[in-house]
Order: sequence, then C-alpha cells, then structure tokens
Amino acid sequence: MERILLRVMLLSNCFSLFTSFTRHYHFFSEPLTWNEAQTFCRQKYTDLATIENSEEHNLLYKTLQSAGYTSDVWIGLYSEIDWKWSDGYTGAGADYRHWRSDYNEPEFYHASQLCVRSGDLGNWWDDDCALNQQFICNTGTQEEPQFTRQKENMNWSSAQRFCRENFIDLATVRTDAENNMIAKVLPIGVHAWIGLFRDPNFFWSDQSSFLFSAWDSVINPIGSMTVICGATSFGRSGKWKFLSCEKRLPFVCYSVHVFKNVVKLKLKAEDSMDLNDPVLKEKILKKLQDRLRERGMNATLKWRKDLNRETVKKEL
Ligand SMILES: *[C@@H]1O[C@H](CO)[C@@H](O)[C@H](O)[C@H]1NC(C)=O
Ligand SMILES: *[C@@H]1O[C@H](CO)[C@@H](O)[C@H](O)[C@H]1NC(C)=O
Repeated sequence: MERILLRVMLLSNCFSLFTSFTRHYHFFSEPLTWNEAQTFCRQKYTDLATIENSEEHNLLYKTLQSAGYTSDVWIGLYSEIDWKWSDGYTGAGADYRHWRSDYNEPEFYHASQLCVRSGDLGNWWDDDCALNQQFICNTGTQEEPQFTRQKENMNWSSAQRFCRENFIDLATVRTDAENNMIAKVLPIGVHAWIGLFRDPNFFWSDQSSFLFSAWDSVINPIGSMTVICGATSFGRSGKWKFLSCEKRLPFVCYSVHVFKNVVKLKLKAEDSMDLNDPVLKEKILKKLQDRLRERGMNATLKWRKDLNRETVKKEL
C-alpha cells in the first residue's frame, strides 16, 4: 500500500470531495447567566463555545488573550448532578445526605470525584472512585440493613463487586439512625466507601460528544445544585471548572465555518492495481486524509458517489 503514488494533478478521472470544519470564537464582555449567554449565542452565532480538541482549546485561549480578559467566562459546558445508590434504592430517604458541608463537600475536586466515602463522624465526602480505601457493605437486608466495615482497601467499583458477591451491596444510608450505625463501625480517622455515586454527565450545549477535557486543579463545590456550568479563564491557562449557572459572567460563543472543495486527483498506480477496487479506494482516501491531518486540516474525504460507477482508467 505504501507504494501507491499519489500525485495531485489537475483534471483527471478521479474526484474527491473535501470538507473541513473550523470553529471561530467570539468573546462578549457583558456578564450574563449561563442560560442567557446560551440564548444569545444561539441567536447570533451557533452556540456557546464548544471545545473538542487541543487546537480549539488554544484558539479559545487566544481569543481571551486578544480580548484582554483574564477572569472567568462561560463556555458551553455543563454537568447534571444525579446521585444514585449502588443498590438502586429510590424509596423514602433515598435523598438523605450527610455531607461535610463545613469543608465545602461535595467539592468535586478536579471534576473527578464521583464516589462517596463516610468519615468516622458520619460525615460524607466525594472522592476519586479509583482510590483504594476501606468500605461498608450492607450485610443485612435492604429493608433491615446491617453495616459491616471491610478492612481491605479497594477502589469503589471493586468494593461494590465485593459487597454484591458476598452480601447485599455497598451501604445505602437513608436516615440519621442508619448514618449513626455507619459512624459506629468506623474507627477514628478511618474513611470508607458507601454506595452513593454518580456518572460524570458532562455535556456540551451544542450536543457535541464530550471527548476532550482540560480540568483545572480546583474545587467545584456542588452543594445541592442539580446542574453546574462550565467556565474557563485566561488567568488559569484556559483550564476548566464549574460554577453556579446563575452567576453572571462574560462568555464566548462560537460560529462555524465549513469549507467544501471538490478536488480532482490524478492517481498513478502500479500496473497490478485495480483503482475500482472499493478496498483500495478506501485506503487511498485514508492516506490522503492522514496527509491532510499532518498539515493540521481535519478534513472529511469522500469519493463522489455519482462517479462510483465510472471506470477509472489506469495510467502507466
Ligand atoms: C479498580 O480496581 C480493579 C482491580 O484492581 C481494576 O481492575 C479496576 O480498573 C479499578 N477501577 C478503577 C476505576 O480504578
Ligand atoms: C475531526 O472532525 C470530525 C467531525 O467533525 C470529528 O468527529 C473528529 O473528532 C475530528 N478529529 C480531530 C482529530 O479533531
């Protein structure tokens, strides 16, 4: 395959359609709530700023630099906070919480704390699910729980598996009485996983999929909010954090520029190659696409369908 010679020349019998897509960012200094900013951006541009890769991240950073604004601005990021119990419990007391609120818990540090541990005084903290620590299984029944501390250190999902395989599940805590039962089985200074957790639920306002991230190493106090909204700032190197969506901040919109070009290519192939072979055609596109990507162009290439049935002449 490496031996295919690709020569871009004029006027040949192969055609290729080439589309590329770039986001342009627009800064607005008037402070609005996240929802107001979203409405504004959707009316005037495409949407609040979406950032899908490091190039776009740099582009937005430069936009803030040109604007000369160093503090927080809204981008199109938001997250839905939806705590759940490992055993699926949703009945009375399912929304009981005992956060260590004088420490700003749950504080969603670095946007990576999605599991909950209890401390010896029965106070709860959100924490990184990958951390290994002790955990509390419900060793009774769902109606009449008994709580047992497991002294082995495990991450949250391993702890969940252990409790499910051996007992009922990780502990569900529905009342002060149940929370006190947990506090009693925890020695001073020991923290242990309980069954409360949530999914990250990161979304972009324009519904782009969430693949790239640039979290700031700061706390994102959630309190009892059900939605939190994403902000970035030049002063924090364009890193992201979450704030109350009701805050009024400057914001960044984006608009989209789509370029479509029809490129005519002349392909020179080895004698033995059949340029009508769909596998070969796919490989040629892939190769061209890689070449363009090396030059910083994220292009989508397609053979023109109406020409598919044309015979491509082989050139010697
Ligand atoms: C939890 O631990 C298990 C076993 O060590 C490991 O396979 C798994 O990837 C870990 N999960 C997380 C989220 O760290
Ligand atoms: C290129 O663009 C496509 C379509 O917009 C997108 O799905 C893909 O993630 C982008 N790839 C890179 C490397 O930016």
